[in-house]
Amino acid sequence: MPANIQAFRSSLLHFTADPAASPDAHHWHQDGLLVVEGGKVKAAGDYAALHPTLPPDTPVTDYRGKLITPGFIDTHIHYPQTDMIASPAPGLLPWLDNFTFPTERRFEDPAHAAAVAEFFLDELLRNGTTTALVYCTVHPQSVDAFFDASSKRGLRMAAGKVLMDRHCPDFLQDCAETGGRDSEALIRRWHGKARQLYALTPRFAPTSTEAQLQVAGELARAYPDVYVQSHVSENQDECRWAMDLFPGARSYLDVYDRYGLLRPRAVYGHCIWLDDDDRARMAATGTAAAICPTSNLFLGSGLFDFAKADQAGMLLSLATDVGAGTSFSMLQTMNEAYKVARLQGSYLPALRMFYLATLGAARSLQLQGTIGNFATGVEADFIVLDPQATPLLARRTSHCNSLEEWLFALALLGDDRAVAASYAQGRLVHERVAEAAPD
Ligand code: GUN
Ligand code: ZN
Repeated sequence: MPANIQAFRSSLLHFTADPAASPDAHHWHQDGLLVVEGGKVKAAGDYAALHPTLPPDTPVTDYRGKLITPGFIDTHIHYPQTDMIASPAPGLLPWLDNFTFPTERRFEDPAHAAAVAEFFLDELLRNGTTTALVYCTVHPQSVDAFFDASSKRGLRMAAGKVLMDRHCPDFLQDCAETGGRDSEALIRRWHGKARQLYALTPRFAPTSTEAQLQVAGELARAYPDVYVQSHVSENQDECRWAMDLFPGARSYLDVYDRYGLLRPRAVYGHCIWLDDDDRARMAATGTAAAICPTSNLFLGSGLFDFAKADQAGMLLSLATDVGAGTSFSMLQTMNEAYKVARLQGSYLPALRMFYLATLGAARSLQLQGTIGNFATGVEADFIVLDPQATPLLARRTSHCNSLEEWLFALALLGDDRAVAASYAQGRLVHERVAEAAPD
């Protein structure tokens, strides 16, 4: 058997550009073959053209009737909030006080953090998400637990310790100095170790003092290849609060700008109540927006404006924002993104939604060429989607007149049941077990 080469036969879909900007952005092979060597993509194309080029006896896994896409990338999610998903509250700020902070307190215990990290990664993989940009808690041990679990599974994940030195309970508060020191130690321990990447994580401007944002900005300058993640302009009460706390700033986003926290590899969740100057500034600085529709509808935060974001040329991707987000599924996130766009007078084709959940997210993370599509040499993180996963999906997808219609049905009706398998670096990391038929 040829060392290290394997192939997967299926329909294939991936992107080399944004379908909103280029008609040739997507690559579709009805009867396709994905060839993987040493955990990286060696080739992706038509089965008929590629199969004869394989060394004899190359193992070919037969997924005919299914769809292989790059693994989904979720650019904003909180692993410690797994256990409090679907907790009711009248808006963001009471939700944080009543559910989030008490839940995050438990991550001072490394055993608890390790157990939740394992469950969380199982859940991501069950949903076809192979990379995520993840919030841990204020406790450094919550980061160690997460990266330990991720690196053992060979996953590419980005994560960081929350920085929070005011307007939170004492039991979750760090300070500018210790928060900075702990973050730097975690960068040295984890950033670039195997597939792990570090993210500086000031929770949001209202829970950091000026001193803490200053330290975060200094670290962001000292380590330009680490990520920065935070929340901005999610909810109108939060926006008013941020402006009260930073009266010198032109806007809520401008608070981060003043501390050097807008730059490539900076990813801000929500971005709903931005103005045109903010959008232009995000685009000019290479700062990315993580769009979190299930969360925004759940908390009643508002509707992301796709048209204005596109006009400004912002980097965009989709994200779940679990635990305010109500699903780990990027398919369900597409479903809600589509409706948010409609309510704002925009239209999101299915092709665009699959782009935003794969290559668009990789670009937002400056990881194009590493993950997010099937270009030669890209890490072979991919998923197998089953258009017949449920009776309704099977019925709806059996009579589609176009690829767009077929993908749209998969996005709107699909969830974890539609993910037949997930692979990381060509290795099977999740396989869906068929449900037992009722007696
Ligand atoms: N703003 C500050 N912290 C959070 C959080 O944990 N979730 C959401 N959705 N918004 C936030
Ligand atoms: Zn969030």
